[in-house]
Amino acid sequence: MILVVGGAGYIGSHLVKELVKEKEVVVLDNLSTGHRWAVDEKAVFVEGDLGNSEDLDSVFSTYNIDAVMHFAAYSLVGESVAEPMKYYQNNVAATLTLIEAMKKYDVKNFIFSSTAATYGIPDVEIITEETQTNPINPYGRSKLMVEQVLADYARAYGFQYVVLRYFNAAGAYETGEIGEKHHPETHLIPIVLEQLLGERESISVFGSDYDTPDGTCIRDYIHVTDLAKAHILALEALLSGKKSTAVYNLGNGLGYSVREVIETCEKATGRSANVIMADRREGDPARLVASSEKIFNELGWKAEFSLEDIIASAWKWHSRGI
Ligand code: UFG
Repeated sequence: MILVVGGAGYIGSHLVKELVKEKEVVVLDNLSTGHRWAVDEKAVFVEGDLGNSEDLDSVFSTYNIDAVMHFAAYSLVGESVAEPMKYYQNNVAATLTLIEAMKKYDVKNFIFSSTAATYGIPDVEIITEETQTNPINPYGRSKLMVEQVLADYARAYGFQYVVLRYFNAAGAYETGEIGEKHHPETHLIPIVLEQLLGERESISVFGSDYDTPDGTCIRDYIHVTDLAKAHILALEALLSGKKSTAVYNLGNGLGYSVREVIETCEKATGRSANVIMADRREGDPARLVASSEKIFNELGWKAEFSLEDIIASAWKWHSRGI
């Protein structure tokens, strides 16, 4: 059985939808930001906290867990600067409680959700896994700390792990059943679509004086279902013994500016956005684009969905008005 911690959240719930097709799944989630309705009904659901040893004892002693996938983290850069304790407490300390429980129950396989924020402001156009990590905010640091702990646990206790550094996750499940639902929403694509639906007055573009062709920030958008499939390949690689430790970027390899994203949303919906130019948002690197060649070469994964596909799926979801 596979334990998915944070399986009620945006990315976790999309992973669970794919994983239940192949494996038995138990989801542990405290529902602080996730949604019970987002968890596929074929998965067992346990409400509990990864930082609570009793909750973990109960799950690990009830189910025969082969591997743990960990999605239960806070992930807002700005919030992490304002409230670092929240990030070090949940993303680092609670994660240590989880991997200590794994050690206690002799569960050695771990898939960890990490982030492009571990790279900080990279000095290369295309980021590979060899690019220097140098996070510039507590969120990125919290993720890198856990990556380092995992390397130490691998050496000391024989832990096996795959770290997946996501670039900009976006899009929704193909049926429109589940999608992105954050409170508050800070991500670009949902914000643009909500504006196009009339749920927001305007869209603020954070900075138009960056050193990029149109002056707005460039990001690498990756469909959440592509992310889910990468997790399943990573899990298979660990369970089959093909890999014992690995770090992979997950992106499309293509960069789109904020303006291009807004234009693509307008084209997809046939609506016109109300855009306001605003100041830069603190902590935003000008450009973050991934090379995902390593995971392609080693596990055969590559992104299948384009920015247009991502936006079409997100539109299907947002138009439902959930
Ligand atoms: N943006 C706007 N207006 C908005 C929202 C976003 O102009 O209302 C811009 C941002 O400034 C940025 C781009 O759109 O340039 C994308 O912003 P998002 O908030 O959608 O995503 P981020 O790139 O900030 O964040 C993502 C993940 C984080 C991760 C980070 C790595 O959500 O978890 O990439 O830098 F840390």
